Amino acid sequence: MSDLTVLRGRRILLGITGGIGAYKSAELARSFIRHGAQVSVVMTQSATRFISPLTMEALTHNPVGVDLFSLSDERAISHIERARWADIMVVAPATANYLAKSALGIADDLVTTITLAADCPQVVVPAMNSVMWSHSAVQENLEKIRARGVISVSPGYGELACGEEGPGRMADIELIVSAAAGCLQSGDLSGIRVLVTAGPTRETIDPVRFLSNRSSGKMGYALVRAAAERGAEVVLITGPTALEKPDRATVLEVITAEEMLMATKTEIEQCDWLIMSAAVSDFKPAAPLGSKIKKEGKEKLVLELTPNLDILKELKPHKGTKLFVGFAAETQDVLENAKAKLESKSLDIIVANDVTLEGSGFQSDNNKAQIIGRDGSLADLPLLPKRELADRILDNALGIWQSSG
Ligand code: CTP
Repeated sequence: MSDLTVLRGRRILLGITGGIGAYKSAELARSFIRHGAQVSVVMTQSATRFISPLTMEALTHNPVGVDLFSLSDERAISHIERARWADIMVVAPATANYLAKSALGIADDLVTTITLAADCPQVVVPAMNSVMWSHSAVQENLEKIRARGVISVSPGYGELACGEEGPGRMADIELIVSAAAGCLQSGDLSGIRVLVTAGPTRETIDPVRFLSNRSSGKMGYALVRAAAERGAEVVLITGPTALEKPDRATVLEVITAEEMLMATKTEIEQCDWLIMSAAVSDFKPAAPLGSKIKKEGKEKLVLELTPNLDILKELKPHKGTKLFVGFAAETQDVLENAKAKLESKSLDIIVANDVTLEGSGFQSDNNKAQIIGRDGSLADLPLLPKRELADRILDNALGIWQSSG
């Protein structure tokens, strides 16, 4: 059985063709949704005779596509957009007619056209009368489709709608859901649980003011998305940011460094990697006030700060065989400072960036960084979009993880 958590936040395009099994597609869509996936449905005209588009639309909360040549459907969401949107396409039930057209590359309706237009993983779930299923034409077509990398979930054995008994009935919902999850799981980080911290922390001065920093959280969120897309199971602990929360991760929101430490301590035991990209406030007000500081009668205001806890140092006892990645935000002597942090914080990798460089660092969509490994390796990277840098960091981490057995 595959790990069904990979379905969380994934976009599943469900193609329904005209077989009696189509009535089970409603339950299939519900099951995908229950596991956290989004489902968009396309149906052939014949499928609409077995189950109504309205039912599927009501269950999925997404417009159902039926007619390839409908101007209004195409304007709302074109067949190409649907194909690009999908992380995976599942055709269930797949009739003998669909298998034949798909094998030949025929595109004469919305389902077959999208089958050709989608370059995501595909799953077919054949269902038909058992004599049809055994026919060499059907088996040869399916063989052709499988040879292209499409996963097939074989029909179950039992009493068929036509009254005969044999193989042909649409596979059980759990088997189809598991096959889809298995397809989505095959990234190079699958099986690795990654904990990412991101964004700034805030320390209270008084009920209306806080101390924080310029971190936008973009680098951490890019790491979360990249790791999830590569198959990792990801937990994000985030300080306050204006960013949309990544939908494929478990997200825990915190405000202060202390809250971040507590959340990290709870989550770290279940994780293999910790990526500490949060910009934790190094200082906090010595005595946060319960009421607003008033300006009246004050010539100047001195705010006393006290050092905050250091999350990475606090987590040292939890390190064991886990892989720790830290960041070094520097304004001078970037390499020396970063190497010193690599040692003092027991890191396996540190990503150093000079935050004074224009177009790089805080708030920016790009970052120029050097990735330094505990093994002495150094990758001096050009200015890269944060998402691309995220992949380079994960590549590096995976290399070290695999070489450490
Ligand atoms: N970090 C942490 N707890 C802190 C401060 C930083 O866990 N209180 C982590 C950061 O998430 C980062 C690494 O330590 O991965 C280095 O952070 P950075 O701000 O560059 O360094 P500091 O340790 O704060 O040292 P300084 O500000 O003096 O350079």
